Amino acid sequence: MKDSKIKQSWAEPYKIKMVELLKMTTKKQRLKAIKEAGNNTFLLHSEDVYIDLLTDSGTNAMSDVQWSALMLGDEAYAGSKSYYKLEAAIKKYYGYKYIIPTHQGRAAENILSKILIKKGDVIPGNMYFTTTRLHQELAGGIFTDIIIDEAHDPYSEHLFKGNVDIAKLDKVVKKYGAKKIPYISIATNVNMAGGQPISFANLKELRAYTSKLGIRIIHDMTRVAENAYFIQQREKGYGKKSIQSIVKEICSLTDGATMSAKKDALVNIGGFLATNEWDVFEEARNMVVVYEGLHTYGGLAGRDMEAIAIGIAESLDDNHQHARVGQVEYLGHKMMEFGIPIVKPIGGHGIFVDAKAFLPHLTQDQFPAQTLAAELYIDSGVRTMERGIVSAGRKANGENYYPKLELVRFTIPRRVYTQAHMDVIAESAAAVYERRKSIKGLKMVYEPKYLRFFQAKFETLK
Ligand code: F0G
Repeated sequence: MKDSKIKQSWAEPYKIKMVELLKMTTKKQRLKAIKEAGNNTFLLHSEDVYIDLLTDSGTNAMSDVQWSALMLGDEAYAGSKSYYKLEAAIKKYYGYKYIIPTHQGRAAENILSKILIKKGDVIPGNMYFTTTRLHQELAGGIFTDIIIDEAHDPYSEHLFKGNVDIAKLDKVVKKYGAKKIPYISIATNVNMAGGQPISFANLKELRAYTSKLGIRIIHDMTRVAENAYFIQQREKGYGKKSIQSIVKEICSLTDGATMSAKKDALVNIGGFLATNEWDVFEEARNMVVVYEGLHTYGGLAGRDMEAIAIGIAESLDDNHQHARVGQVEYLGHKMMEFGIPIVKPIGGHGIFVDAKAFLPHLTQDQFPAQTLAAELYIDSGVRTMERGIVSAGRKANGENYYPKLELVRFTIPRRVYTQAHMDVIAESAAAVYERRKSIKGLKMVYEPKYLRFFQAKFETLK
């Protein structure tokens, strides 16, 4: 095949051993379900969903090796064998010195924010993530966006929209002083920008800048393998390097990390905090006992730690990532053929539809992305997620954030759906696009205090 001019497809490096049956619903049933859910796809019962693209978090299909490792889980309260396997995997593949398991990513964010952030501190980052920013704010910090402008433009074809604008960072440093900046928050494959990577060159430049000032880089490595895939495919000099080696190089440029293993690490639950600093580790080890559990399980069962240790290795396989991102790109191209406005370049973990362009007759206060997600569900039972004004939430003074990006995320779980499912998704999006002019917006009728997108309720405007 390699000698042929025919382009090699992204086909999966696995076959299906077990299937999960899905309920097929009628439009009448879906209309009832979405009404009961207050037009919020988070509040639907998953049983009523046909293809679930709400998130790629915890929705991965584990391999036969991971499933069989569950039986090896050592459920000892202290010093579990499974913990030492997880620690060894993190050291081997990511290279961080000290690790604390946590039940998921936000638990690591909570502990780290409490340790490193003092009231009035400023945390610059390459775009916010909902839980990460909230924990920074709850610890008394202020998040500042230092991502390049292109990241806020859904149509910029910049290949590394996750890059930091060093000039923006320099302004923040000059304004507040390095002492007020406990760390820079760097996500690999920036979720809210549409699953967009940071380049190795940019990260290196950032490292050089922060080293001079003694500022840490804390790595949100939730989707580091997908980011490494893009570096391999797009950045000069990395084409022949393995994803495994690129991931380790990325980690080596940072001082610590928080990880939601529910994404790239191919499990259904789990996370960890990693650091190269003994002092930070010592304090985290104290705090994890308060919030999660003993430092050798951190809220996880031994079997979960076994599955993560294997999932980390599987996620760094070049063939896996080629198929993973290949499937996402397949869906994206299909949607573009139908004329649907999506964020470009196509990201790593899903397709992000530009709801402002899809429903231009709605103002942002009428929740175009929330509306579109509800309409897609009604059309076909495909569940997507709002990533716009609802997700952005309110500032400390109570005002709404008005993010430039008003997106609907079609997040693809890893190793779960087939190419035919991708076709159904694109066709449904096209059907809704055809009748877009008749779609009415929403008003919010219930708003929770924190992370409102999870539980808010909406009614259709008359
Ligand atoms: N960081 C990023 C970039 C994330 O995408 C997530 C979760 C977290 C941290 C928090 O991790 O869920 O394990 O506590 N993102 C999910 C999503 C919820 O759907 O994008 P967690």
